[in-house]
Amino acid sequence: MEPVTLLAIDACIGSFGQRRTDDPSYSAAMTMERFSGRKVLVTGGASGIGRCTALRLADEGATVVAVDVNADALDAVAAEADGLSGTIVARTGDVSTEDGVKAIVGGAVEELGGLDVLVNVAGILSFSHSHEVTLEEWTRIITVNLTGTFLMCRESLPHLLASKGNIVNLASTASHAGQPWAVAYSASKGGVLAMTRELAIEYAEQGLRCNSVSPGAIDTPITLSFSLPEGANPKLLRRVSPLGPFGTPEGIAAAIAFIASDEASHMNGADIRMDGATLS
Ligand SMILES: NC(=O)c1ccc[n+]([C@@H]2O[C@H](COP(=O)([O-])OP(=O)(O)OC[C@H]3O[C@@H](n4cnc5c(N)ncnc54)[C@H](O)[C@@H]3O)[C@@H](O)[C@H]2O)c1
Repeated sequence: MEPVTLLAIDACIGSFGQRRTDDPSYSAAMTMERFSGRKVLVTGGASGIGRCTALRLADEGATVVAVDVNADALDAVAAEADGLSGTIVARTGDVSTEDGVKAIVGGAVEELGGLDVLVNVAGILSFSHSHEVTLEEWTRIITVNLTGTFLMCRESLPHLLASKGNIVNLASTASHAGQPWAVAYSASKGGVLAMTRELAIEYAEQGLRCNSVSPGAIDTPITLSFSLPEGANPKLLRRVSPLGPFGTPEGIAAAIAFIASDEASHMNGADIRMDGATLS
């Protein structure tokens, strides 16, 4: 049987597959400079939300080390930053191993001369019936999304405590409500949300902030690669479908930029849901 993609089931769900063209964040000239002189590390920087976040923060003056397993796409993102007031330095790296994360954070701190902001965007997703998920698949998703985020936080914390910096983690609507066919992803994102609050409490007195963003369906490659497991009832997608078009990665990057900026200095342990009213 042919895999059922989200785009193929528009007829059932309506709003899935619509592309947003009216979002001003697509073309807005960024005039703010909230990150001049700031040293930023973004994981998952080669694509989607990570790419837009690296570009947005560089556009606001940051020096960004962008990390991803996809070296070619990452180099292209760094080149896109030419002409912005900040810069993007591309660093190939894998958040799923302890040694890999030590190399990422050590290399970034050496490159930047410190660290003010960590944005954990790298993530993966697959759709399967929960009773068919192998331990290997469970471990693969938990390792990148949850353990990778933990390791990035742990290794960055000494540097962020020194700068009284902040962390922004990528949670999900799956952190808040049931999402079918994504048992490992949901567990990983629930863990990211809980870990975000834990870090906020533990380090608030030392001047460190830790917050998260929970996107709903956003128009990125991760969403386009969705395919439903055989026999899945596509009507269950109403649980995860925005009431209008998909969100944009530029819109999520704008929220991340606000959270990471001094304008959000009293925001700590918070989560911003950006889901087009999916969970409302
Ligand atoms: N797009 C959505 O609808 C949506 C919704 C909720 C949450 N999110 C979350 O947002 C984050 C970004 O998603 P996206 O939509 O931009 O997806 P994306 O696939 O466009 O980007 C993810 C990036 O992470 C990188 N990556 C994967 N494994 C890695 C690893 N081990 N080490 C380093 N980099 C790695 C990929 O190469 C890719 O460039 C993810 O954490 C995802 O779970 C996305």
